[in-house]
Amino acid sequence: MTPPRKPSAKSAARHRELVAEIARHDELYYQEDAPVISDAEYDALLRELEELEAAHPSLVTPDSPTQRVAGRPVSSLTPREHRRPMLSLSNTYSREEVLEWFDSVRDFLGDSADAALFHIEPKLDGVALELVYEAGRLACAITRGDGRTGDDVTHTVRTIGDVPRRLTGDDPPVLLEVRGEVVMTHANFAVVNTAREEAGEELFINPRNLASGTLKMLDPRVAATRPLDFMAYGLGACDGFAARGHAEAMEAVEALGVRTTGDLSLRGTLEEVLAHHDDLLSRRGDLPFDVDGTVIKVDDHALQSRLGERSRSPRWAIAFKFPAQTATSVVREIQLQVGRTGAITPKAVIEPTYVAGVTIEHVTLHNKDEIERLGVKVGDRVLLERAGDVIPKILQVTEDGGGEPFVMPDRCPVCDTPVVQDSEEVVVRCPNPACPAVLARRIEHFVSRAAMDVEGMGGKLVAQLVDTGLVTRLADLYTLTQEQLEELPRMGETSARNVLAGLEASKTRPFARVLFGLGIRHVGQHVAEVVADRWGGFEALRGASQEALEDVAEIGPTVASSLVAWLQDEDEQAQVDRMIEAGLAPATPAPAATGDGPLAGRSFLFTGKLERMSRREANEMVKAAGGRLVSGVSKNLDVLVVGEKPGSKLKKAQELGIEVLEEEAFLELVRGGDS
Ligand code: IVH
Repeated sequence: MTPPRKPSAKSAARHRELVAEIARHDELYYQEDAPVISDAEYDALLRELEELEAAHPSLVTPDSPTQRVAGRPVSSLTPREHRRPMLSLSNTYSREEVLEWFDSVRDFLGDSADAALFHIEPKLDGVALELVYEAGRLACAITRGDGRTGDDVTHTVRTIGDVPRRLTGDDPPVLLEVRGEVVMTHANFAVVNTAREEAGEELFINPRNLASGTLKMLDPRVAATRPLDFMAYGLGACDGFAARGHAEAMEAVEALGVRTTGDLSLRGTLEEVLAHHDDLLSRRGDLPFDVDGTVIKVDDHALQSRLGERSRSPRWAIAFKFPAQTATSVVREIQLQVGRTGAITPKAVIEPTYVAGVTIEHVTLHNKDEIERLGVKVGDRVLLERAGDVIPKILQVTEDGGGEPFVMPDRCPVCDTPVVQDSEEVVVRCPNPACPAVLARRIEHFVSRAAMDVEGMGGKLVAQLVDTGLVTRLADLYTLTQEQLEELPRMGETSARNVLAGLEASKTRPFARVLFGLGIRHVGQHVAEVVADRWGGFEALRGASQEALEDVAEIGPTVASSLVAWLQDEDEQAQVDRMIEAGLAPATPAPAATGDGPLAGRSFLFTGKLERMSRREANEMVKAAGGRLVSGVSKNLDVLVVGEKPGSKLKKAQELGIEVLEEEAFLELVRGGDS
């Protein structure tokens, strides 16, 4: 590398000028509240300074604005889309399941798995972040958000020492998206909380919450007082950056000046990787930040892309979580909660206790059987367990408090309707669809971010709408008026208008979100997406039979029956009709099955032993190419792909006159050729 040139007198003079000018604008902005230039012009000055200093590092002085990490506050966080979605990880606490995952990887890859090496790194318990470097310059930093869209937090990320504003080296990639975790060390956490305690302010529960709160602050000057660390663990979109595997990629990222998990990581065989997991577990308490397990990844990028991903997590990685931590506390009260499906769940209110990084005040007791099994009563001392993001639970009673045994009521604690119990279930339910608790939970679910994402509809408003009787069924939401809302306590004209605007905007959410939001039993986000992809809208779905539903590979008999029962429920359908009348018109984004992939619109099934790919890999190819999978040979099947020794499916397909392809012809078809 050539040493940096000595700055010319001209550069030095321009540097002094810029420093003075920026300082003047800072004063105008912060002290006098009277800026004379736009933020963009201000940024341009800062950028010029940064570039000058990058070329002549000797010009950097401690008082340069580039060294005073914090920039200007923003007025709100801007949502920003990720070029590639940020997925999550499937996780497990059990070594057996890690071995099963390993087997499934081997099964999927077939022979090429034998040489596969793994990479293991700590699972950092912080906040996921994506750094976008364009031509070596930090262009923006985005939180994970819902995986597709996060918040732009560039202004606070600039205060993190581990995040360089420029990548090292003369020839940076055109585009490099580095993903990693923002954490706060235990030492820094203690410093921040001690200061807060002295100031009489509320304490942060754990380093992760503090890190997350800090990233999302509007004013970077405040963020700068709360030191964060960043460590990279992956990549997003890249251009001009190549690596054969994960370990190599992380080394290259490190060489470009971005911190990774470094020595805490290792590449090796499954045995070596498992030994490293045990080693990290034994050192867990000595690490400077919270680590809640390890992440094991298939190292080779080519194998990673063959493995691909399931609905929300890659198949090439698994989080192996560290075991739960325990603590004891005393049960103060046992309360009953009525959920969205009417399920009545007892929960213990306990003396607040700190366990595995959070203060716990409530623990679910699930149902009456669980209470009997534990023998738990008010006043008892209990042993609690909490593991990372898993809900805490009571393991056992350690001291009898001498209280009365708890009896589950035979009436709903909210609406007093006699409870019912399905024969195969232990849960008791309130069967009253108009029960205010059931209704409130259903509305909360309907308007939630993952469903209709209605802005301005918080829990308090939902409670008011139910209490005042303005909403007695879900569909009433769409007939609310400005006048009705304005009459609610603490609801001004503007808030009312915002709520109506939020409801209006929700009318065109994708069909999958609407289905999920309606709270049909057994229809979670994934099933809702599968159903929406296949049927597209209410009208088509209403014509679907149990058989047609079960024909979809991802829908089993239970889910299908539940959907059919919902489709046949006149009252539920009347609610849907009312919503449609009020303008509900779900968007139907071109579903994969009718998209433009080479298999678009056609359904496939495999039979016999495949030579060139595993069965799972073949299924994934179908989906990736826009096709659909069905589970049996019926008139709903378009193409049967046969391997060696096909068996009875082939015979049946031939009888029904269904197209039959051999493996090679199928691969040709996927590649875009004709069949
Ligand atoms: S890899 C596609 N590696 O865990 C794989 N994630 O449960 C994406 N996390 O949102 C994740 N340490 O915030 C990966 N070494 C690590 C990690 C890690 C922590 C977090 C990350 C992610 C979450 C997934």
